[in-house]
Amino acid sequence: MIKYIVEGGRPLFGEIHISGAKNAAVAIIPAALMVTGPCRIENVPQISDVTILLGVLQDLGASVRYLNPHTVEVDCTKLRNGRVPYESARQCRASYYMLGALLGRFGAADVALPGGCNFGGTRPIDQHLKGFKALGAQVDTQGGFVMAEAAGGRVKGTSIFLDKVSVGATINIMMAAALAEGMTVIENAAKEPHVVDLANFLNSMGANIMGAGTDVIKVRGVDSLRGGTYSIIPDQIEAGTYMAAVAACGGSVKLCNIIPKHMDCITAKLTEMGVEVQEVDDSLLVSRIGPLVRTNIKTMPYPGFPTDMQPQVAAALCLARGTSVITDNVWNSRFRYIDEFKRMGAQIQVDGNLAIIEGVERLTGAQLEACDLRAGAAMLIAALAAHGISEITNVQYIERGYEDVIGKLRSIGGSIRAVEVPEEEPLAVSSAG
Ligand code: EPZ
Repeated sequence: MIKYIVEGGRPLFGEIHISGAKNAAVAIIPAALMVTGPCRIENVPQISDVTILLGVLQDLGASVRYLNPHTVEVDCTKLRNGRVPYESARQCRASYYMLGALLGRFGAADVALPGGCNFGGTRPIDQHLKGFKALGAQVDTQGGFVMAEAAGGRVKGTSIFLDKVSVGATINIMMAAALAEGMTVIENAAKEPHVVDLANFLNSMGANIMGAGTDVIKVRGVDSLRGGTYSIIPDQIEAGTYMAAVAACGGSVKLCNIIPKHMDCITAKLTEMGVEVQEVDDSLLVSRIGPLVRTNIKTMPYPGFPTDMQPQVAAALCLARGTSVITDNVWNSRFRYIDEFKRMGAQIQVDGNLAIIEGVERLTGAQLEACDLRAGAAMLIAALAAHGISEITNVQYIERGYEDVIGKLRSIGGSIRAVEVPEEEPLAVSSAG
């Protein structure tokens, strides 16, 4: 186990290559189990969530081999339908995508519930289960497992209206419906780039999915999916995190291998804050020379401002002139990181799903404990912008979703290193994601 030591107060300059999207990879890897024949997935990020999900596939009988550090070949031809244990669900919340994938392929699934949430709130899956039931599956929750079984061994197409826009429910239902008998219509669907990426992946393997990226997705079920090659989209949130780092620290950084359109919701806010963002083909040049300006942020499903970016932008807003208000409309208690910011000298008040930030002249280095993936990234940004030295523990959260974060930050002038944590310091494990 390691912790990060960060010496803050330096502007960032240079170039960073953005990795494949974590939230697309954690949907596409489970979806690969629905494919008969070798399935080659390119631009796979090297993060621990990917390792855990590939391990689950292997435990179910898939053959998995890396052709290079970012390309993995998965062959699930001989995969058998087995129970997905709590040990996997506990480590990676996205293992619940095995439900939709196994239900699609075998007409039955038995997967451990992912457990609690380290944002501090609950993370219900009622819309996923409602979708499976509508597809004709009988669903039982017993002993911490969800068991779903379709009569006659195959789910049946239907119409489903989601009560709440949910990325996970949209993805899980889309997977099961891809191999259903007949047509499924998902209304009030999520439109996030990774929802579209999963649909593109499945279509490239022979599925028939229309409308992904709009709020009505139509899935015409097919009998089987065949092998193929697919490249995962770049990570919108990883790119946004480095943009927020430049906003907080100042400097000028080119982010390569991104889809600029996906960045619009983040770029718009950072521009209001005094950050310059220039689009050049598949890269963005992000610079901040002048002072940071306050703004208000309301998180919304895509194409709104992503909840997965609010902690990182909050780190920059701690140093902006004036008062900023962040309203998280997606998760109602995603502000656990704020107590850590306060220990660095930030002036913030939290009231329910609102955080009111009074900008201060400077933050000072402190001992920080990451409490989830994006909170950890936000602490990293605050530490890079602060005066003095910070130590961040529980960095396994950060490494669940950011490939080579230390190497990338060092390459743009961040002073950060990883050191071993002595054994007596306890480290938590959890399943957000
Ligand atoms: C996905 O989580 C992401 N995870 C999260 O990113 C992200 O914060 C979230 O979408 C919102 O964008 C992955 O893609 C693996 P939801 P998910 O279902 O699918 C409510 C990160 O940092 N809801 O879209 O679990 C729910 O309580 C992670 O990378 C129900 O009420 O989120 C929430 O308020 C953290 N019933 C809202 O919908 C349900 O059945 C959105 O949740 C499902 C969700």
